[in-house]
Amino acid sequence: MPFSQSCENNKWPILNILKRVFTEPALILEIGTGTGQHAELFARELPHLQWQPTDRPGEHELCQQRLQEAQLPNVARPLPLDVLDPEWPVSGADGAFSANTLHIMGWDGVEALFAGLGRRLPHGGCFCVYGPFNEQGRFTSDSNARFHEHLQSQDPAMGIRDIDDLKTLGEGTGLILREQCPMPANNQLLIWERR
Ligand SMILES: C[S@@+](CC[C@H](N)C(=O)[O-])C[C@H]1O[C@@H](n2cnc3c(N)ncnc32)[C@H](O)[C@@H]1O
Repeated sequence: MPFSQSCENNKWPILNILKRVFTEPALILEIGTGTGQHAELFARELPHLQWQPTDRPGEHELCQQRLQEAQLPNVARPLPLDVLDPEWPVSGADGAFSANTLHIMGWDGVEALFAGLGRRLPHGGCFCVYGPFNEQGRFTSDSNARFHEHLQSQDPAMGIRDIDDLKTLGEGTGLILREQCPMPANNQLLIWERR
């Protein structure tokens, strides 16, 4: 079964934040679900949420076996969703979550993601995004700088995003940065709110 060690390491600290953000019954759209380790834990520990896993067509079935075996009543069948597609297979959601995706998709993908969520989240709806981020044009650690170099050597479109650039993007798409939560291993969880 597909497995990610980094998911295993970060899922509990992320859960602690999601617990206080998503307190009411809600449909949560996950972008770039990957192995489904996050979806499984968060749906199990937050049973008041309906979890909708998605990933790029072809990748979206990676999590299928894990989630099927988990037999959680509040996890929907994973849907194919590439944020760059003009049509998304979901018309709306109350909130959204994504981990370790913004440095993998190109900047055009990041723009499409913010625009897509800006159109689909209700006012007050939150988007929680986890990963490594730069601040004021600087890496927050040497390991993040090395990681960025590694990503760029694979594909120059990939790379760690700067929170200031994301804020500018958010302003244009109706998503305001509400909170920046430091996380282990030089990562952060950013909480955006639809205004
Ligand atoms: C490093 S993996 C992270 C997977 C999982 N969220 C995790 O934390 O382990 C990056 C994910 O981003 C997804 N992704 C990349 N570009 C995307 C796009 N344009 N639309 C939707 N998902 C995308 C990939 O398919 C992959 O599942």
